[in-house]
Amino acid sequence: MKYRTLGRTGIKVSEVSLGTMSFGRWIDEQASAGVLDQALELGINLVDTADVYGRGMDNGDHAQLGESEAILGNLLRERRHQIILATKLHNPMGPGVNDQGQSRYHIYRALENSLKRLKTDYIDLYQVHRFDPHTPLEETLYALDDLVKQGKIRYVGCSNYAAWQLAKAHGISALHHLRRFESVQPEYSLITRGIEEELIPFAQSEQVGVIVYSPLGRGILSGKYAAGATPPSDSRLAAGEQRLKLLLEQRQSLAIVDVIRPLALERGWSLPQFALNWVLSRPGITSAIVGASKPEQLRETLQYAQERLSNEELAEIDRLTAAIRA
Ligand SMILES: NC(=O)c1ccc[n+]([C@@H]2O[C@H](COP(=O)([O-])OP(=O)(O)OC[C@H]3O[C@@H](n4cnc5c(N)ncnc54)[C@H](OP(=O)(O)O)[C@@H]3O)[C@@H](O)[C@H]2O)c1
Repeated sequence: MKYRTLGRTGIKVSEVSLGTMSFGRWIDEQASAGVLDQALELGINLVDTADVYGRGMDNGDHAQLGESEAILGNLLRERRHQIILATKLHNPMGPGVNDQGQSRYHIYRALENSLKRLKTDYIDLYQVHRFDPHTPLEETLYALDDLVKQGKIRYVGCSNYAAWQLAKAHGISALHHLRRFESVQPEYSLITRGIEEELIPFAQSEQVGVIVYSPLGRGILSGKYAAGATPPSDSRLAAGEQRLKLLLEQRQSLAIVDVIRPLALERGWSLPQFALNWVLSRPGITSAIVGASKPEQLRETLQYAQERLSNEELAEIDRLTAAIRA
């Protein structure tokens, strides 16, 4: 495993990080333990979760949110200090009007609840899950800064931010001498490339860590789905993941899979290996958060993770996919 510096923080994070959205949502604690053990064995030191991850994301039951954090808390124990633990807040955690968002009121409660579930007294990277148009950024950034001062969080980051939102937040942090967002967590894969124009150049210019999620297109880029075919019974599509369904329907996802299939074959790599290596070969990426529902998926996906596609190969992929992406 190789490690890269996260923005200007000085901490080193593995180029591939582990996403735990599947923990408790699609796989139980025992299966999650296998995935986590495998990740740590492979040298992964950045583990990402969110307060909201759990079965409640699919069935709307607030009591079934937080399961990913709870499972991680049970599994990490004495290994807690070996990893960079990242979690998020923002999404509704209960039915109340203030059970969500980025007010100081909710941030404090969300963090206390995450710490309890994770069985830890600090979070290394605390990320706002998305932009909150209803709360002034000053409110959010002051609250996060206070939590850093209290030692409950080490760094703050954001997720699903546009470049202008991050620039605005940085401006406010600079004006008031508050901790700024040191990382951003956007979606990025061969089929979701929206961040290349604005967010990546901004992050590079401001030395912000870029931790991208869903590098395998939520499983689409593994080639396991085909138009009109029944999805594998153990897949997330079969389990009903809505955002995966939309990605499969709304984008030219399967056409991209067809383009990369022969290129992966030429390299002697599987599709997930190719998809991950493409992300890691692109400029400005600090770490790619992969997901897995089985340890052997992780082992396979990361097998060639140290290798890089050449600039010529990257240009060829751009050329071959340009018409599909237009
Ligand atoms: N900030 C946000 O808004 C946000 C949103 C989404 C995700 N995330 C983070 O990013 C993490 C990763 O997201 P993701 O799970 O969508 O990422 P992903 O790596 O694009 O997709 C992972 C899925 O691909 C399939 N897969 C992985 N390796 C495979 C292999 N070798 N062969 C065949 N299939 C394979 C598995 O699907 P099956 O389980 O169906 O087999 C696995 O669950 C999440 O856990 C979360 O931490 C953040």
